[in-house]
This record gives sequence, structure tokens and C-alpha cells, in this order.
Amino acid sequence: TTRAVVIGVGHYLPERVVENAEFEKSLDTSDEWIRARSGIERRHFAAEGQTTSDLAVRASRAALADAGLAGDDLDAIILATSTADLTFPSAATMVQAELGMTRGFAFDVQAVCAGFIYALANANALIVSGQAKRVLVIGAETFSRIMDWTDRTTCVLFGDGAGALVLEAREGAGTNADRGILATDLHSDGRFRDILYVDGGVSTQNTGHLRMQGKEVFRHAVEKLAATATAALDKIGMEAQEVDWVVPHQANIRIIAGTAKKLGLPMERVVVTVQDHGNTSAASIPLALSVGKERGQIKPGDVLVTEAIGGGLAWGSVVLRW
Ligand code: ACO
Repeated sequence: TTRAVVIGVGHYLPERVVENAEFEKSLDTSDEWIRARSGIERRHFAAEGQTTSDLAVRASRAALADAGLAGDDLDAIILATSTADLTFPSAATMVQAELGMTRGFAFDVQAVCAGFIYALANANALIVSGQAKRVLVIGAETFSRIMDWTDRTTCVLFGDGAGALVLEAREGAGTNADRGILATDLHSDGRFRDILYVDGGVSTQNTGHLRMQGKEVFRHAVEKLAATATAALDKIGMEAQEVDWVVPHQANIRIIAGTAKKLGLPMERVVVTVQDHGNTSAASIPLALSVGKERGQIKPGDVLVTEAIGGGLAWGSVVLRW
């Protein structure tokens, strides 16, 4: 059985760090409120002129170096983002050119905060079907570009950043003992478009700003995240207790903790980076994987469950052995 195995990981965060207290100068908010309601303490914002593909290229170089590969060793690039540099070409083809990759193919995936899960599931399908042997999967965002800085209910929650994984086809026994992606589970339900969206786009001739009914999103999050993680584990007959690390989308510590509790897993087995990164949408999971590895939390052979939910609503999870 062909398995898509992680052979490299890396990330990049823009230099500028903004602490919660900075928002107190321009908004009716406080460090205490932001920490208590979201778990966020600080976030990174891209410099003027620094684009999503710039962040993606830096994360990709780190992941390729970790894998000991060059751009031309890749067959495909999948980049998850809702904040691409331009309407077209895709940010992925911009990364392809920057990495000196002149073969294969590259494309963007747009599933907002669930984007990296969708991208991983697509990369896995390309590898398992024999279409590609090595795939670079990137999550990269500059959500600072779509914030309404007068809206305290949204602008304090998001940040910019990028993370990337290199996946390679390896032959395995087809059991849960194999390294690599073991199961994927994707969902969306477009009836919920109004609770999380950007009020602009190409077809409406205006970039727009992120709009969110936070309470409504919260209400769906814990239940849907626990359900998709359980569904992915069920597909391979695994129990939550066999999971070494939950690597959740980093939107809100209360959602992260609520989901872990529902899965019956202690917070000691959850990788948490939301305090330092804020919500980086599609970038949050590869960022957490990279930082979790750097911290010495995630080790070869560990079973990981990643899960995310975002605009759409779109949600899903991936189970893999690192
Ligand atoms: N500072 C101070 N007060 C604030 C702020 C702020 N930054 N923002 C809102 N408030 C006020 C509200 O106006 C409200 O005041 P009121 O009671 O007078 O009306 C009060 O604080 C409570 O607001 P709630 O919205 O009820 O607060 P809640 O506990 O629900 O927390 C939050 C809000 C953090 C947005 C939470 O609902 C949440 O995290 N929801 C999920 C959002 C999310 O995770 N989205 C991302 C997932 S999808 C994606 O990643 C794109």
C-alpha cells in the first residue's frame, strides 16, 4: 500500500510581533479580555509589501531543507490560502517559480481555516493514486489584509504566517503501524455562509473585510471538530486513546480545549500555539506541526490527529503517523 509520509516540515513567521496591549491604544479592548476569551497573547503581522507567497516561499525553503530536497525534486505543490497575492495566477505557481521548480504542477486550495486539511487530503489522494511521488503542502496567509481594524470582535483574533510539509510516497504494509497519512475526513455545509465570510471579492469589485458571528461559529466548532476527528479515527479502527498528539487549528483555546475534552484527551496531548500566533487560518496547523516538532513534542512514530473548521462552513480532519 502506498502511504504519503511526512519527510520535512518548516515554517515562517513575519518579524513584526504585536502584543494584545497594542490594541488597547486604538480599540475598546484589553489584554485580559483577549487572553480570557481566546487564549491569544500576541500575533505576527506581515510587513508592508510582504505577501502570502513571500511567507509561503520561506516556509517551503525550511521544509525542503528539513527534507534534504530541492524545488525540482517535487512533483506538485498545493498551497492552502484565502489571501493569495493576486486573483491569478495562484500563489502556488508563484512559489513554484521561486523554488526553481520547472516541472510538475502547482495549485491553490481555498477552504479558509480548513484549507490545510483539504490540501493534505488532496496531496494524499495524488500520492495514493500514483499521480505524484513528492508533494509540498503549504498553508500561508496574510489575514491582516482583510481585517476591519475598527471591529474589536474580529481584528484582535487573527495573525499572519506560513507552514509547510513535504510528503513522499512510501510503500507500507497498509496498517496503522505505517508512517504517513492513515485517514482523512472532509465536510462542508454552505448553508452557514453568513456566520463567517469576507464581504468582498473579485466578482463584487472590492477586497472586503472578514465578518464573523463568533458565538455562532463557536457553537458549531467543538461539536463538528470532535465528530470529524472521531470519524477519521473510526475509518481505521483507532481509538482516541491511541492518539499521541492532537494538532488542532489554532483559533481559540476554548474551542481547542472543548474539542480535546470531547475526545477524552488531556491538554498535555494537545499542541497549542494560539497564544503566540493568533488565528492564522490555513497556516495554523502546519505552523503548529513545525513548532511542535521544534519543541520536542512531536516525535517520529507518533500518531497525530489534526482538525480544523472555518468559513463555508468547511471542516475536516487527518490522522497520520509522523
Ligand atoms: N474586547 C473587549 N470586548 C469585546 C471584544 C474585544 N476585543 N470583542 C467583543 N467584545 C465584547 C462583545 O461586544 C460582548 O459585549 P456585550 O456583552 O456588551 O454585547 C462581550 O465582549 C462578549 O462577547 P461574545 O461574542 O459573547 O464573547 P465570546 O465569549 O463568545 O468570545 C469570540 C468571542 C472570542 C469571538 C468567540 O466567540 C470565538 O472565539 N468564537 C469562535 C470564533 C473562531 O474561532 N473563529 C475562527 C474559526 S474559523 C476561522 O478560523 C476563520
